[in-house]
Amino acid sequence: MHPMLTTAVKAARRAGGIINRAAQNLDLLHVSRKAHNDFVSEVDGAAEDAIIKVLLDAYPNHSILAEESGAQGDPGNSEYQWIIDPLDGTTNFLHGFPQYSVSIALMHKNIPVQAVVYDPSANELFTASRGRGAYLNDHRLRVSKRTQLADCLIGTGFPFREFSHAEAYLAMFKDIMPRVAGIRRPGSAALDLAYLAAGRYDGFWEMGLSPWDIAAGCLLITEAGGLLGDLEGNATYMDSGNLLAGNPKIFGQLLQVIAPHLTRELKTN
Ligand code: IPD
Ligand code: CA
Ligand code: CA
Repeated sequence: MHPMLTTAVKAARRAGGIINRAAQNLDLLHVSRKAHNDFVSEVDGAAEDAIIKVLLDAYPNHSILAEESGAQGDPGNSEYQWIIDPLDGTTNFLHGFPQYSVSIALMHKNIPVQAVVYDPSANELFTASRGRGAYLNDHRLRVSKRTQLADCLIGTGFPFREFSHAEAYLAMFKDIMPRVAGIRRPGSAALDLAYLAAGRYDGFWEMGLSPWDIAAGCLLITEAGGLLGDLEGNATYMDSGNLLAGNPKIFGQLLQVIAPHLTRELKTN
């Protein structure tokens, strides 16, 4: 394993330990609301602090972009930046619904080079290094081989905080629903992308995601042979947060179903 990935795994497992311990006593947690339907607990902060400590102890010159504490270090001084979501799926976590993850990506000159998505309740560790493949624990991952939408299980995320694209989203949902075998909305985008890399889903789409939700999952998918794009298939997804992913056969078919429902704001430019 690449030494930078080993460090990321150590950081993710440490955060996972904090999350698992807290999950046993959810009633004791202090929770605050950042915005409408945007909750944060002391666990998010503690897990993020633990991750950043492991990473900066090993690589003090690297810069950081983390969901709770923001940016630190000067990206102008370092070619490396870690992008961290210490707890992706906080709403699930707070409800004792065991579908949440730790997501850590390392960018080199804005290109993802190492990725970890860790599900602490299932102890599933998804990792990828650029050019060296994606793994679940010790098993090499490949995206699914399904070719027909009718056979496909599709992951998604509904709007729940910000509803400006809700109409367009529901139109897409309505169009995709009867064409596929099923649609799932488990509630952790990072884990959704890891599941796509593992072939558990055949496609995925969501709007309004943040870089820390997707940076690691996107590398898992490309290293497992999948395709990614914004809702028109272009490369702006890290900036726009509008993401479509799939195995190579299904990606294009989903783009076609979604296309009639794109508003001007959802198009690439
Ligand atoms: C959220 C989860 C969710 C997705 C949201 C994210 P958080 O992250 O990934 O699945 O639908 O868009 O914000 O806030 O729980 O870290
Ligand atoms: Ca998140
Ligand atoms: Ca989070």
